[in-house]
Amino acid sequence: MRIAVFGTGYVGLVTGACLADVGHQVMCVDVDAAKIEGLQRGVIPIYEPGLEAIVRRNHDEGRLAFTTDAARAVAFGELQFIAVGTPPDEDGSADLQYVLAVARTIGRHMDAYKIVVDKSTVPVGTAERVGEAIARELATRDVSIDFDVCSNPEFLKEGAAIEDFTKSARIVVGTDSERVRAAMRECYGPYSRNHDKILFMDVRAAELTKYAANAMLATKISFMNEIANLAERLGADVEQVRLGIGSDPRIGYHFIYPGCGYGGSCFPKDVQALARTAREVGYEAELLDAVESVNHRQKRVLFDKLVQVFDGDLAGRTIALWGLAFKPDTDDMREAPSRVLMEALWAAGARVRAFDPQAMAETARIYGVREDLELVPERYDAVDGADALVICTEWKPFRAADFARLRTLLARPVVVDGRNLYDPRILREAGLMYYAVGRGESLAAR
Ligand code: UDX
Repeated sequence: MRIAVFGTGYVGLVTGACLADVGHQVMCVDVDAAKIEGLQRGVIPIYEPGLEAIVRRNHDEGRLAFTTDAARAVAFGELQFIAVGTPPDEDGSADLQYVLAVARTIGRHMDAYKIVVDKSTVPVGTAERVGEAIARELATRDVSIDFDVCSNPEFLKEGAAIEDFTKSARIVVGTDSERVRAAMRECYGPYSRNHDKILFMDVRAAELTKYAANAMLATKISFMNEIANLAERLGADVEQVRLGIGSDPRIGYHFIYPGCGYGGSCFPKDVQALARTAREVGYEAELLDAVESVNHRQKRVLFDKLVQVFDGDLAGRTIALWGLAFKPDTDDMREAPSRVLMEALWAAGARVRAFDPQAMAETARIYGVREDLELVPERYDAVDGADALVICTEWKPFRAADFARLRTLLARPVVVDGRNLYDPRILREAGLMYYAVGRGESLAAR
């Protein structure tokens, strides 16, 4: 099949590269000329394990092209994927200007039947708006060309996007057209061979499925964070509780890890957008609002613990941070809990000395050069002489830390763990004061 993909961000690039990898002819379009020029030379603008190799291979073998020429891409693709960003508006709703701009571009240039595929995360009803935008352009041109719009949400996790695309649990397609169903079967057939993974449904159901999935996962996390906060105050170890409830298959082990709050480009944005959509149709989504506010508070727990440990006296202290990215295997800092912590520490007059395996360049880009932020290339260098070590992201190399070395390097033996990586008993034996989320030394009585 010939496929055009608008947007070479995270979702567009993974989609384009993976579809080319099974033999489709793919043309990726972006308005950012520098990005396209880089991609043509094999430079990937994001860090995602495995992506670079797939992009290079398919580009070299002639199945994956990059262009800024939208007219060419519209003419090229039977399928037109829209995978541009939907950043949150000030009021929390999704900003559709980029999606609708692509729709107008398609309407302006198409000269034969097209299937337009909404891949971006968009509010319920967007497929209709995309269709209207295309129809308006066609009317302006005074031509009558048939087209269909379908919804095909993505469920990619950063850091595991290739695996999620190629071995997805399900492929959701919202459409009422038999022609679209046949085309999407052809498009995704190579990824749906072992058993039929394609779930056809109504357009609106597909659009809502994406939000419902992310909101459900975010709910599990906020719920668990609430239990962790409670466990801490009750003197129970939340990690034992986690295993205790996860063993029930109705609950399951996934997404019940307590921590310092969920971040990233999806959960915070999508929970807020769904709550906003609810409000628009006259429904108060109380649970969604609570999921969001629990998360907001959770992003403050690391700072609050430091305030308690140091009796509010943080000015002039050096705090070491392990992990800056919102989760491991990415350099993405969007909505990262580390940012809430660093900004609170700076406001309190403390210095931050941080290490992250991938996200230091992005951190430097966001915060620029500042006196109270030092980014160091080695994790133990961050700890040397620091008043406390705080873990914000559970990168694999952090899991087996040298506690004796930490004890020697730290000026004060304080470890605050936002990801519950360690066994509290072992740290206590190593002479470290260990404060985690819902476990470790108690701060409740202080
Ligand atoms: C998520 C969804 O998983 C994916 O299906 C969707 O397409 C996009 O949003 P992503 O944002 O890449 O993917 O990250 P994910 O691995 O889901 O983690 C999101 C956040 O939740 C991270 O900040 C992570 O640290 C946090 N998290 C996750 C927890 O705090 N506890 C958990 O048990 C799981």
